Amino acid sequence: MNKTFAKDVVDGLTAKDKYLSSKYFYDTNGSRIFQEIMNMPDYYLTDSEFEILSLQAKQIVEALAFNEPFNIIELGAGDGFKTFKLLEYLVKEGVNFNYVPIDISQEAIDILSEKLHERLPKLSIKPQVGDYFEILNKKFQGNTSNLLLFLGSNIGNYLKDDAIALLKLFHKVMNTGDKLLIGMDLKKNPITIKNAYDDKEGITKRFNMNLLIRMNRELEADFKLDDFDFYYNPETGRVKSYIVSLKKQTVLLKNLNKTIQFNQNELIWTELSKKYSLSEIDKLAAVSGFQSKQHFLDCKHYFTDSLWEK
Ligand code: AVI
Repeated sequence: MNKTFAKDVVDGLTAKDKYLSSKYFYDTNGSRIFQEIMNMPDYYLTDSEFEILSLQAKQIVEALAFNEPFNIIELGAGDGFKTFKLLEYLVKEGVNFNYVPIDISQEAIDILSEKLHERLPKLSIKPQVGDYFEILNKKFQGNTSNLLLFLGSNIGNYLKDDAIALLKLFHKVMNTGDKLLIGMDLKKNPITIKNAYDDKEGITKRFNMNLLIRMNRELEADFKLDDFDFYYNPETGRVKSYIVSLKKQTVLLKNLNKTIQFNQNELIWTELSKKYSLSEIDKLAAVSGFQSKQHFLDCKHYFTDSLWEK
């Protein structure tokens, strides 16, 4: 049994307003469901960022103004689908750089490395498997410039203070002149956002309900899936997802010898997916110690990859 998971579940489900961290979505099954989400036409985030990196690779690379060789270090690289276009551009232009993808999943890194060796044989790739908090515990060494990639609106899943703490950690390990390219989802028509997060096929519901399945498996809990539902609240700019208890009920966490009471319609808050304005992004850069250099937007202005400098 994963002790941190167990403790976080008990803390979250015994709190006055129940919550669970969205980081626990990503077990093997949850990671697969997230791939399905990224393939949904209504989940505009993936396509928007893909467009930015496909069409504006040249402008992004020019804005770096780095001497060669340099490093591109990607946090949570996953399948590397979006980054591929940027890497392809650099390889085609004969730019001298190393690509360092970091991911918690060995499987994801293996698949990514194999795919990149096949499609970009000239790419210098130095993958690392692990939790990026652990990998980022020492300063980047040497005189080589670094571009840190934190794409996919991952920062949007952090509460404000946690987001600032993470960005400050990036800042601490980077050297002066290093850059961060950070993907952020922009504020927009709430109906567009609703369609991305409250999909009719129920894929996002499955993504949330997988948390109950995970607790049933790892903590020998007895959540009955039919007694819970998915609820989504499109509060302006702060999309929040919940699991709602459909009746008054008691759930047993057998491994922990604990019971949890639910009232009818009681919520478990599972995820924040924050949407930003460009001025909020500039403020966030400043409070974390960065200079916001340039925003690269897709043609619909749904998403930005913003370039910050230490
Ligand atoms: C990983 N993260 C940026 C996704 C998001 O959009 O907040 C996770 C997600 N949750 C529901 N759909 C996708």
